[in-house]
Amino acid sequence: MFKRVRTWLGQIGEDIRQSTDASLLSSMRFLGLLYGRIDRELPIDQALRKAWGRRLPSYVGWRHMFGGIAYLLFMVLVVTGVLLSFYYRPSVDEAYASLQYIATEVPFGWMIRDLHVWSANLIVLAILAHMARVFFTGAYRPPRETSWLVGVLLLFVVLAFGGTGYLLPWDQWAYWTSTEVMSVIGRTPVVGGAIAGLLTGDVFVSGATLSRFFALHVIVLPWAAFGLLVLHFVVVRKHGTAPPRGHVETQDAGTPFYPDHLLRMVIVSALVLAVSISLAALFPRAIGDPATPFELPEGLVSSWIVVDVSLGLFRTLGVWGFVGFSALGLLMVILPLVDRDTEKGLRRKPVVLGVGLLFFLGFLAFWAVGRQIDSVPPSVEIESRILEERAIPTPEASDVSADGDAEARQGP
Ligand code: HEM
Repeated sequence: MFKRVRTWLGQIGEDIRQSTDASLLSSMRFLGLLYGRIDRELPIDQALRKAWGRRLPSYVGWRHMFGGIAYLLFMVLVVTGVLLSFYYRPSVDEAYASLQYIATEVPFGWMIRDLHVWSANLIVLAILAHMARVFFTGAYRPPRETSWLVGVLLLFVVLAFGGTGYLLPWDQWAYWTSTEVMSVIGRTPVVGGAIAGLLTGDVFVSGATLSRFFALHVIVLPWAAFGLLVLHFVVVRKHGTAPPRGHVETQDAGTPFYPDHLLRMVIVSALVLAVSISLAALFPRAIGDPATPFELPEGLVSSWIVVDVSLGLFRTLGVWGFVGFSALGLLMVILPLVDRDTEKGLRRKPVVLGVGLLFFLGFLAFWAVGRQIDSVPPSVEIESRILEERAIPTPEASDVSADGDAEARQGP
């Protein structure tokens, strides 16, 4: 019997070998399991052996793992996100209950949800570490400007993923934090009002916002991320990893992809997964009370690092903090356009170094400030809305369900 199974498997292997060509290996390369060009002329098994025999430049080491870590966490987010979407209901009446159901009734639902939340935090740290590695080694300079630009766009997409995902639990913390963020964006000069209006889809955060954020989170942003990741990898691979300044590579130097670099990747992936799963198991993220647009929550608990940074920024510097940090982000985007000299190190470019340090240290500083914030700011706008709703119950108002989703306002 065993002999028959082995013959059968051998036959399947042979059939695949005969009926496929090496281009199939590009999916493995997209998953980061192969490095460098694939020789499509060769039969698939020989092309695989050739690709695995490739050598990476000797200067590629552990610090070049951060991009891969960000990629792994992105995949964890996709898998856990898909699993969550089997049970999550993106409507004002059902969102909160469906999340409670996931966290308390669905087998391992709590783990999937907390793994999603923790990976959303860890990916931001991994991207920042990756960006810092690229910045401080000058790997954004020509010919790698496009890798940098696509990278920054990827960072924006990851921030948008988090910002839209943050509202989906529809609990008081998510609701009022999103309300504060929308009101700061709305008060940003020139474009703020239009952007906030487009995102909110209503006069304040409501069911319309929840639908838009859900559509962005599970349809628009995944496609944007997928496209940008493909572009990022293709461009990074086209130029190869940037050598340290003054480095001269000899022919036989370098690390074979298999087994050395692959082993490094397996070790790092196992560590990242172990840390993410342990954090999810040991520090589950609490869920607040169901969202009530006309009642402020007693306290505020944040579950996402970027929310801490944003609140830290808004509460200390207000709208101008948001404008200032966005301007700094834009400066980081155009960095490869202003700093094109690959000979001089960062130490001899104080302005460029200053912008980078301000960005990375600013992020960490506002994160530290934001971690202390535990309440919603009493703002005139919110107070007036609550008073208005409580003070003058009109027939229309009484139809407004607890979540304030005013069909009257939205019209057809
Ligand atoms: C989800 C987000 C991201 C993923 C998955 C990702 C992935 C990667 C990977 C796997 C590499 C090659 C290995 C390495 O150097 O780490 C890489 C290289 C690179 N990445 Fe990213 N990256 C991301 C975001 C970014 C961001 C935000 C930037 C910059 C703002 C960026 C800029 C670059 C550059 C310039 C290179 C080439 C570095 C070199 O040649 O040494 N990436 N990226």
